[in-house]
Amino acid sequence: MPALKSLLLIGLPMALAASPAVMRRGPTSNFSLYAYGDGIGGAQVFTTGDGAFVGSASSSNSTEAAPVLFDVGTDNALLGSPNATETTPSWSNLTFNVPDTTSSGHQVSFSNSTTNSTTGRSASGFVFYGQYLFHQNTGGNLQSMWYALPSDQDGVWTLNWNSTGDDTDGQVIVTLRAVAPSTDASSDTTS
Ligand SMILES: *[C@@H]1O[C@H](CO)[C@@H](O)[C@H](O)[C@H]1NC(C)=O
Ligand SMILES: *[C@@H]1O[C@H](CO)[C@@H](O)[C@H](O)[C@H]1NC(C)=O
Ligand SMILES: *[C@@H]1O[C@H](CO)[C@@H](O)[C@H](O)[C@H]1NC(C)=O
Ligand SMILES: *[C@@H]1O[C@H](CO)[C@@H](O)[C@H](O)[C@H]1NC(C)=O
Ligand SMILES: *[C@@H]1O[C@H](CO)[C@@H](O)[C@H](O)[C@H]1NC(C)=O
Ligand SMILES: *[C@@H]1O[C@H](CO)[C@@H](O)[C@H](O)[C@H]1NC(C)=O
Ligand SMILES: *[C@@H]1O[C@H](CO)[C@@H](O)[C@H](O)[C@H]1NC(C)=O
Repeated sequence: MPALKSLLLIGLPMALAASPAVMRRGPTSNFSLYAYGDGIGGAQVFTTGDGAFVGSASSSNSTEAAPVLFDVGTDNALLGSPNATETTPSWSNLTFNVPDTTSSGHQVSFSNSTTNSTTGRSASGFVFYGQYLFHQNTGGNLQSMWYALPSDQDGVWTLNWNSTGDDTDGQVIVTLRAVAPSTDASSDTTS
């Protein structure tokens, strides 16, 4: 599917028909997510126990900041726990969620909720197409509407969903992948 591949590489938001055969290729446990986009070459997803960020957790001024290790739960929910190698935050086993179509909010977040979704948020239906993370809407289409916004801290962006209606400067459309950036500087940097 060359058309799909080039769309993914330039990181456009998109809707794709779901195909269970390819979704099974994604990871199911103990994986990290990384954002790739213009000027963002594999920034790891972290949280302070509420909002989702990408970049270096150690650059955050919150003592609760830690990179997230994910497991796939019921209904393709994503459950996040801290990689507590360097810090020991108070949060654990949080449910990843994106704003739904009724929400005017944009930041992706984590909640304590054990329910499928909280008001204005969707906490299920996260599926991989290869190593790319998508959200499946109620119509069954896979959507990638991730974007990053610079934060007040260098090397830290907020992770957001669905830029429609967000006029903030500095938006970077990103893809989320379960693949860490290569440490080989000479390798392909388009992804
Ligand atoms: C997660 O993966 C790391 C390295 O890939 C491994 O050291 C660790 O034991 C794993 N943890 C769990 C709970 O599977
Ligand atoms: C989760 O629960 C803890 C303890 O009740 C609370 O301190 C924290 O703010 C909650 N986090 C979220 C994201 O709701
Ligand atoms: C982190 O720094 C930002 C900007 O300097 C500030 O707005 C925020 O309140 C700080 N957060 C904490 C937890 O200190
Ligand atoms: C957890 O963080 C440490 C320190 O950054 C890193 O070496 C380790 O690979 C991470 N573990 C996983 C499973 O990502
Ligand atoms: C994106 O946001 C727009 C404007 O708020 C809304 O109409 C649309 O339903 C949203 N789409 C998704 C997939 O959340
Ligand atoms: C983590 O949260 C999920 C869903 O909220 C729940 O089903 C599961 O039992 C929790 N796991 C632990 C170890 O608390
Ligand atoms: C969670 O939501 C998904 C899609 O919105 C739905 O298919 C599923 O049945 C729900 N699961 C529960 C336990 O409510």
